[in-house]
Amino acid sequence: MNDRRARQTIGILTSGGDCPGLNAAIRGVAKTALERYGMEVIGITNGYRGLIEGTARRLTSDDVTGILTRGGTILGTSREKPFVDDVHQMPLLAENFADTDDLGSARDSIVGRNKPQAIIDNYHNLGLDCLFILGGNGTQKTAHLLAERGLNVIGLPKTIDNDIYGTDVTFGFHSAVDIATEGIDRLHSTAHSHNRVMVIEVMGHRAGWLALYSGVAGGGDVILIPELPYRLDRIVAHLKRRAGQGKRFSIVVVAEGAVSENEAELSEEELRVRRAASGIMSTGYGVARRIEESCGMETRVTVLGYLQRGGTPCAYDRILSTQFGTAAVELFRSGHSGHMVALEEGHIVSRPLSEVAGRLKYVSPNHPLISSAKSVDTCFGDA
Ligand code: F6P
Repeated sequence: MNDRRARQTIGILTSGGDCPGLNAAIRGVAKTALERYGMEVIGITNGYRGLIEGTARRLTSDDVTGILTRGGTILGTSREKPFVDDVHQMPLLAENFADTDDLGSARDSIVGRNKPQAIIDNYHNLGLDCLFILGGNGTQKTAHLLAERGLNVIGLPKTIDNDIYGTDVTFGFHSAVDIATEGIDRLHSTAHSHNRVMVIEVMGHRAGWLALYSGVAGGGDVILIPELPYRLDRIVAHLKRRAGQGKRFSIVVVAEGAVSENEAELSEEELRVRRAASGIMSTGYGVARRIEESCGMETRVTVLGYLQRGGTPCAYDRILSTQFGTAAVELFRSGHSGHMVALEEGHIVSRPLSEVAGRLKYVSPNHPLISSAKSVDTCFGDA
């Protein structure tokens, strides 16, 4: 058997929303494979779309040197969902090709093709022995479906939302907490100067981990998370009580997915329509408007948005990403494909994708950090 055939070949892809730590994880996988085990490493561009289209390149040690501290992903990413029918994605393509006749070719290349089969074909065409998939809930769900179709896959849990079931924490999360906390710190001073209520909207569409952690770290007076639908009257009473104590400014940290008790009864579509009809751009603006209307306190809004996804990873995430990357290769070598690396009480472990893929990890209303926050007089708008 020639040397090349004796050498194992692995693929790496990054999928879904980007975050600090992706390049550190790529580095962890690639350097372990290249330098410890003499493997071939193939970088696949733009997530699953790269596997569908066959866009990939060989990675060398030079490619992954100096990327530990770099934000984003050197491979690019996409939110391609290979097992979701193409109609949902066609409108996007139409916009991309509106002014050219390329739509015809794009439509032919997408509508007629079976994306999962294209992935399986290219997995074999590239001669992969295993595919390392860095991504969030949707990405790991796709990874599991590919494993069920016979591909060797290893998942690495990534998202600033920290909402992946089966791991205590995902890489990207603590970097986003640090970024959001710095933003909250900066808004404290201007809120104090102007005696204003500052509403800071952070990311976290379905789970409120980022709002909870950055809210506590930033000394938020009110923290609103999706898991605890709030009542406005409780928030207003808390702000008024603070004002009565001479604290005429307040910091309100809101997860983008937070809802009031009334809104919690609505479907996502009903909520979108209701907020659009009232001209509310996003959750933070809605909370600010209702606070100002209810108690006349001057209120301003800052949406931290994509700042939370950008820039260099914090030290914690550099370490976690390196641990996940190196452990993922060991997992493959020990014959445990179809698993996701995870962190459990400080130890790197693995979870079968069949048990975790696509499952969300919500903040429990009984989470000890909520209790600690309430002990220092933080309001969650709940009972
Ligand atoms: O999943 C991470 C995340 O940043 C969420 O917190 C946020 O709601 C979403 O991605 C934004 O998605 P996009 O990057 O597609 O705008």
